[in-house]
Amino acid sequence: MNLDMARLFQSISHGVYVIGVADAEGPNAFTAAWVMQTSFDPPMLALSINPSHRSYRKLTASGFFSVNVVPTDRLEWAAHFARPADSGKLAGIAWTPGAGGVPVLNEALAWFQCRLAGELASGDHVVVTGRVTGGRLNPAEALPLNYRDTGNLDGSAALYPDAY
Ligand SMILES: Cc1cc2nc3c(=O)[nH]c(=O)nc-3n(C[C@H](O)[C@H](O)[C@H](O)COP(=O)(O)O)c2cc1C
Repeated sequence: MNLDMARLFQSISHGVYVIGVADAEGPNAFTAAWVMQTSFDPPMLALSINPSHRSYRKLTASGFFSVNVVPTDRLEWAAHFARPADSGKLAGIAWTPGAGGVPVLNEALAWFQCRLAGELASGDHVVVTGRVTGGRLNPAEALPLNYRDTGNLDGSAALYPDAY
């Protein structure tokens, strides 16, 4: 357990996102903090995903994903979409299928539709880049949720090494 390292890394600002994926077996979605823009033209995003997640297999099988921005008044989504893949995470959530059938959340602050562009192994995660093919900023007053405001919800303090 390394809370000091967890707090240190949470000083790098991240938002909280729900990543939508789908394959022939159906859609899924998971909470992610490690998301960033990587290009203006073409517009591109990257996310860092643990390759043991069910969502990684679905994302690479279909080549599509969505990035849904979580607003501050939807903190419960952060925990909800971090549950296991077989827990029916999309039940009771209002969503629309985007390209490749990936879920786009109707009540997200904003969403992006992406087509898989590349992958780069990075330690225990894989950085996935995506070409943004569509998106929408919902007309709401809401602000995006910050990763550091989720505390140790992701259990990350247990994932850092004891020392550098
Ligand atoms: C606040 C928060 C941030 C997270 N950020 C990421 C992330 O950036 N990348 C990742 O692979 N998992 C991240 N997770 C963990 C996944 O959401 C979690 O392991 C999820 O169960 C994976 O979903 P799946 O098994 O349905 O694919 C985060 C969890 C939380 C609570």
